[in-house]
Amino acid sequence: MSRACRLVIVLTLITVFVPSMPPAHAESGESTRISNPARHHRTGEQRYPYRDKSEYILKELDLQPGNVVVDIGAGDGWWVERMVKFVGDSGVIYAAEVEKKIVDELKEKFADTPQVKPSLCETDSTTLPENSCDLAFFSQTYHHLGEGTRVDYLKELLTVIKPTGRVVIIEKYTEIGLGEGTHGTRLSRLVRQAEEAGWVPVRLELMTGTYHYIAILAPKDLFPPEPPKKNKPGKGRQAQRPETNRYTMDSLETVQRRLANNKAVLVDVREKSEWDRGHLKDAMLVPLGKLQSGDKELIEQLTKAIDNNKILYYYCRSGRRTLIAALILKEMGYDARPLSEGYADLLKAGFEGNK
Ligand SMILES: C[S@@+](CC[C@H](N)C(=O)[O-])C[C@H]1O[C@@H](n2cnc3c(N)ncnc32)[C@H](O)[C@@H]1O
Repeated sequence: MSRACRLVIVLTLITVFVPSMPPAHAESGESTRISNPARHHRTGEQRYPYRDKSEYILKELDLQPGNVVVDIGAGDGWWVERMVKFVGDSGVIYAAEVEKKIVDELKEKFADTPQVKPSLCETDSTTLPENSCDLAFFSQTYHHLGEGTRVDYLKELLTVIKPTGRVVIIEKYTEIGLGEGTHGTRLSRLVRQAEEAGWVPVRLELMTGTYHYIAILAPKDLFPPEPPKKNKPGKGRQAQRPETNRYTMDSLETVQRRLANNKAVLVDVREKSEWDRGHLKDAMLVPLGKLQSGDKELIEQLTKAIDNNKILYYYCRSGRRTLIAALILKEMGYDARPLSEGYADLLKAGFEGNK
């Protein structure tokens, strides 16, 4: 065999049997090894580099048909145009702007898209009603809010957004802005402001090559605190209830706040005779007995009075019946959260009675 021929065979064997090297970088296409800081800065010269990541961003938004979104600082409506495809005919996108001229342009642009509602907002408020949106979206707008008003703005959004809704913020990451001016917000500052307002980040992602980040926030009180340590057997009220972990972990303060913000409703699952002797103001009577027997009239009344977007807190005399009612109410599609406190405990805790 000639030398040349042997060389060809050896090279072929190397190609086949030597395992291929792992890729030099992760999914983003950029290595995190800092060989050149400028590479983490930006690519391209366009004004809105994050628009290149729209496919990824829209996937993160996970919009569903029928969702209601407010795009705060909608600008030329670039995002509105893309989001409307996901929310469909039954959804709504409020294109909120502080500039009257931009609102007029948006009205013209979306004249044939009735789901898009261009609206003039205040610099410190969306002016939208409570519980009206599933998602509030800021793209390169958050830094336009007055520095002193941001926490209050985010607090207001807690009431505008439905209980399980989100806020999404795309913003320039000024820590790696490399002298590009101040049109952005330090991520650490955003997280501080969000937490102060009652939100927590469920995703924070730097979008390599754009020098922007995406921050997805959810209401903090959706995440219960660590359950308390179990009491020793035989001691205290909790110990007598092995099923205590099925009660809601929401604090009574949270329950009261949600009731006041119209994000939750209160239900009394005791029987009518107990209710007549006294009940909590603003509660609705849904006797467990009738619920268990599938009383048609009661179920119709319940469905009419309470929509599924609201959290349903409910109480009985000692906390025992609430756990039984949980099975039925959850089955009916409610976000049903049984209170371990009974009627008397709730009165003592400051809930208002009917007399
Ligand atoms: C940099 S542009 C971003 C446009 C668009 N969101 C995008 O990413 O393509 C910022 C927009 O926010 C608007 N804006 C500024 N302050 C605002 C506020 N407090 N509320 C709502 N919109 C605001 C401006 O009029 C401008 O159109």
